[in-house]
Amino acid sequence: MGEFWTRKYAPKSTAQIIGQDSGINLLKNFVNNFPRKKACLLYGPPGCGKTSSAIAIATELGLELVELNASDFRNAAGINSIVGAASKQMSLLFKGKIILVDEIDGIAGRQDRGGVQALIKLLSESAFPIIVTANDPFASKFSKLRKSCQMIQFEELKYDTVVKVLREICTKEGITFDKEGLEGLARRADGDVRGAIIDLFILTRIDNKLSKDELEILSDRRHVVGLIDGITRILKTKEVAIALSALNNVSENIDEVLLWIDENMPKEYKKAEDLARAYEALSKAAVFKGRIRRRQHWRFLVYVNALLTVGISLAKDEKYNHVVKYDKPSRILKIWIYNRKNLIRKGIAEKLASVTHSSKKYAFKETVPYIQVIYRNNEKFRQELNESLELDDKEIEWLKGSPE
Ligand SMILES: Nc1ncnc2c1ncn2[C@@H]1O[C@H](COP(=O)(O)OP(=O)(O)OP(=O)(O)O)[C@@H](O)[C@H]1O
Ligand SMILES: [Mg+2]
Repeated sequence: MGEFWTRKYAPKSTAQIIGQDSGINLLKNFVNNFPRKKACLLYGPPGCGKTSSAIAIATELGLELVELNASDFRNAAGINSIVGAASKQMSLLFKGKIILVDEIDGIAGRQDRGGVQALIKLLSESAFPIIVTANDPFASKFSKLRKSCQMIQFEELKYDTVVKVLREICTKEGITFDKEGLEGLARRADGDVRGAIIDLFILTRIDNKLSKDELEILSDRRHVVGLIDGITRILKTKEVAIALSALNNVSENIDEVLLWIDENMPKEYKKAEDLARAYEALSKAAVFKGRIRRRQHWRFLVYVNALLTVGISLAKDEKYNHVVKYDKPSRILKIWIYNRKNLIRKGIAEKLASVTHSSKKYAFKETVPYIQVIYRNNEKFRQELNESLELDDKEIEWLKGSPE
């Protein structure tokens, strides 16, 4: 779906790739001067046009684009039939190809897994130019590879480039947009055009329009990535040091982290005992969190952090090796918001029950709504109640505002 637009609006030629002039020039030179260098390595952040450029240049030059991935390197015979031998280039029946080895970031350092060594061997034998792409080619496992390739950097796309791409799509799709909406979307993308296009697609499904309001629906990409990274560390590791620092870069409020862990923990922890221990840590964290709120006792934050990180990490007997896709909390969020609202009402009811000598349940159901009406309309009563019940800000806010 979203992928559909990124394909529909994929650059058809190198001229349509915006903001990468220097990279495109180097790429053209590389192909034209082949075999001076056997391979080039396009590197740069996600969604900046690396794969698109490889496809576009092959199309432009009328060459067949053959894509290889890491596991292909293991099969020598198969590989040879694709990349050919250097001599074949002389043949009259020679049909030109470009070999693309896309996204090597995850490739193994070891040859027996179809790793970097095998790729380097392939580069030296190929009769065709090879384009390799990576987000981060500076990992140590790539040090030899870097020497065999011409390194070509692709820039993180500038904000106004992203705006330009989005505006064009809006126009072609007949989408109404305002400046703020378009710019907000581009800013969120962080240079990732692909991400921005997918967001645009999702946001305009309902009424074919993009405005600032629609943006609120999207949670900040970076924010979500940070949270997923944090909980992945917690759930995957059993090392105290790694767990303890897992939330360091997650500046978000603890309530949100609690929700995320609550949502994803059962996906990772499959043994009942692990899950039980983990939930114990989680619920203790929630209790301390509540005490912070009620008593403004910030010292408890240390416990909350320890319980959420190490407490949950060490709740498992051993690490799980399965691959799990973590996701943002959905259904739970609504229940939680509802409970939180009630929590304030419950707190007020408790206080009322003690001064009116009635049951908490009665105060919750009967007294609070009654009190609330007077509270909203009578300044003097408001002040008296604030003092006699020692109401905190949240409770005052709730009494004043909650429409019930
Ligand atoms: N420089 C650009 N100019 C125009 N459109 C772009 C550009 N970069 C990316 N896009 C759009 O984003 C989509 C994805 O780009 P592409 O697949 O080339 O990114 P990439 O650099 O290979 O990213 P990754 O590192 O994630 O593989 C393209 O189909 C195109 O619609
Ligand atoms: Mg790519």
